[in-house]
Formats: sequence, structure tokens, C-alpha cells
Amino acid sequence: MTGHVYVSRRLSAAPMTALESLGVPIVVHPDPDWPPSRGELLDAVRGASALVTLLTERVDTELLKATGNALQIVANCAVGYDNVDVNAASSRGVVVTNTPGVLDEATADCAFGLILAMARRLVEADRFMRTGKEWIWAPQSFVGIDVSAGATLGIVGLGRIGMAVARRAHAFNMRILATGSRADNREAAAFGVQAVEIGTLLRESDIVSLHCPLTSDTRHLIGAPELDIMKASSILVNTARGPIVDEEALVEALESRIIAGAALDVYEQEPRPHPRLVKLENVVLLPHIASAGEATRNAMCQLAVDNVRAVLNGERPPTPVAG
Ligand code: DGY
Repeated sequence: MTGHVYVSRRLSAAPMTALESLGVPIVVHPDPDWPPSRGELLDAVRGASALVTLLTERVDTELLKATGNALQIVANCAVGYDNVDVNAASSRGVVVTNTPGVLDEATADCAFGLILAMARRLVEADRFMRTGKEWIWAPQSFVGIDVSAGATLGIVGLGRIGMAVARRAHAFNMRILATGSRADNREAAAFGVQAVEIGTLLRESDIVSLHCPLTSDTRHLIGAPELDIMKASSILVNTARGPIVDEEALVEALESRIIAGAALDVYEQEPRPHPRLVKLENVVLLPHIASAGEATRNAMCQLAVDNVRAVLNGERPPTPVAG
């Protein structure tokens, strides 16, 4: 017997309608803006055959057990799935899916927006204007990095999103260094990407942008030793996952000007950035919105629903990560 589909936050309209048309009961967490508490989640998933989860839900053995035996799929509505214990799901025969591909451009737009905002000190200048302080044009006022005069961009983890960032950087005449499995493929070469070791990337880049997934290998990939070898004038951009950066070490590096600045969309302990981070002037901070384009969010939700539909119909889902 097919149990309900549990959705941990209301999806956008069209995907929600598509989900409702599957003909199985749907249970949607009532608060559109705030996730279910752990207790609410454990209760609500009991007997479910499918879960549509977000990165705010920890899908681990406890949660999988709480569903009972009917669960067939965890459709994570995000490209990252570090919140899901994929091995635990697989060992129970539960398919895990994510939403790759549909958010590459939106995320790259946001990363590039952060690169420009930080390099040209746009948010800092905006904050200054709001103080009402006296100003007049001056040669040294808010001088930043000349992005399109050959600044070097280091892309850590050149996958689909990193490649979309490389395409933008190429159009801005940047020198591009990258790590990752695609860094020396033909597409990367067309954008002038040079595949390098991470040490070279960190030492030579004016801007370092992170695009790798969070795994046990990439947790704290950027810590004090890595920040130490970056240029004092460089900036770090993170639109990937917070724990890739040791946030305590980053705050210390920013306070002592080991690097010049950071632009972050993600944090080690979401939703709370390090308390000293929010006091710094040399940072731009966003609330994990890199994929927040309207069409992008619809496409992510639709892909999650397509995955649920396929699995409940006994078909192979479009974007499985395992199972
Ligand atoms: C993802 O998809 O992993 C993003 O972090 C949220 O869009």
C-alpha cells in the first residue's frame, strides 16, 4: 500500500499541483517559512512512501526508521545532499534524488554578483552612503580589485556550477585557475581554465570561489593554513556549503587582514553566522539565496516531484544520487 508523500515546505504552485495529481495523500508542513521541528518531522513522516526534503532536514537513520517500511524515495529539493545519509537510505532500499543542473545559472549569477560586489566594494559603499557622511569624488575612494583587467579567479571544484562561473569569468577577461574533475576538459579549456593544485590556486588567485560539494573530504577544506597562503589582497566567495570553510579560522583571517574580504551565502551553523562575522566591514553576507531565481526554484521543485512520480510508478527517477 502506498503511504503519503510528506513535503517539508510548500513547493511552488505548478509543482505542487503536479504532486497533488499523483493521486496519493500529500502532507505538507504548514509553515511555509520555517522547517518542521525534529519532533514534528519524526511524527509527520510515519508511514510515508516519499519524502520531499530541503537542506534544512537531516535525513538520517532515526528519520528513516521513523517512516516505517513503506518509504521508497527521499527527493531532496537541492543539488547538495549532505543533509541525507545516502548509505543509510540505500541500505533500506530507499532511493535518494537531488536536483542537479537546473540551478547552475542562478547560482553562478549569485556567485558572480558576490565577486563583483566584494571586488568593487559595492555593499561597503552602499553602507557608507546610508550613513549620511559627507563625500566627494576622490581618487582613492573605495578603490577595489579591477576584475576585468586580468584578475585571477580560482574556482575550487569545477563542476557544473563552477563551469557556469568560469563562463562568466572568461567573458570578464579573467585568468581562471581551477581544481576538480572537469578542470582540464575541453569545455574548461574553451574558457581558458588552467587546471592546478589547490595550493597554487590559493597562492595565485585574487578571488577564490568555492563550488565543491560538502563531503568528508571537503569539510574544512579552507582553514587557517589555506587562508594563510592566500594573498593579503584576496577575497573568498562561498556559495557552496558553509562547513567547507572553517568559519572560526575565516573570522580570524578577516579580522587580522590575512585576506582582504569574504562574500558568503552559506555558513557553518546555518542559520547562524559566526557572531564576529556579522560585525565585520570586509564581508558581504547573504541568507543562502544563491538559487533563489523564480524559474530556478520552480524547476528544482518540479524535478523533485518528477523524481517522486517516477519512483512511485516503479520507474527510474531522472536524477538519482544512489539506490
Ligand atoms: C542547493 O541546491 O544545494 C542549494 O544550496 C540550495 O538551492
